[in-house]
Amino acid sequence: MTERTPLIAGNWKMNLGGAKGCELAEAVARAAQAHPNVDVVVAPPSTVIAAIAQISEENGKKLEVAGQNLYPKSDGAFTGEISAPMLLEAGAKWVILGHSERRQYFAESDDFVREKVAASLAAGLRPIACVGETLEEREAGKTLEVVNRQVDAFASLLSEQPGFGVIAYEPVWAIGTGKVATPEQAQEVHAAIRARLRETLGADVAEKTRILYGGSVKASNAAELLACPDIDGALVGGASLDAEGFAKIIQAAG
Ligand code: 13P
Repeated sequence: MTERTPLIAGNWKMNLGGAKGCELAEAVARAAQAHPNVDVVVAPPSTVIAAIAQISEENGKKLEVAGQNLYPKSDGAFTGEISAPMLLEAGAKWVILGHSERRQYFAESDDFVREKVAASLAAGLRPIACVGETLEEREAGKTLEVVNRQVDAFASLLSEQPGFGVIAYEPVWAIGTGKVATPEQAQEVHAAIRARLRETLGADVAEKTRILYGGSVKASNAAELLACPDIDGALVGGASLDAEGFAKIIQAAG
């Protein structure tokens, strides 16, 4: 079996877009240096991507920076949008795509997420593509149907460079609710996603693609989730805004 390096990513969402974000990034960069066997990424608001990329440069480059979204054109008349080449130029190496908040509040469809994943890969920006079912879908027994549909929309794009892109499984009912999926619930879906990748794209893509869990991950529950064989890391929201708590999650992955 391929060894997959654990990846802990902090999604700051619309928080800490100024000096406080830079302070947090300094602390996270130190925690990343202390755990060289864990890949560490933060996704701050785009206003501080360049500053945090600079902080990473000054602190051993172990911390990498992600955008939280992109528009799938490289430039042009798209007021308010940011492209993959712009994120790269600002110092980001990653981008979160298809987050459930974008799907929910900005009506992003599976097709649009696919376009975004394609744009990020074409630019050389590593996508963290998010999937996950709502509570209603879970209760209707549709979890795997929904997650497979979302994964199928972009997965074939990941096969050109197996391991370059990452998938995040974030059950919508567990995001920001304090209601974390049990390790068994999470592992079941992660294993199903990997099986789907194996079936549709082959063993190499399935073994090399890291699948992160997201949804109310915190220092106290990270270790048991990360111990599951198909959980290769975490995409952390609220708990990534606290340096000490986030450092403990990084430690739990090491
Ligand atoms: P919380 O960790 O706050 O539940 O958010 C998870 C998330 O949406 C990460 O992308």
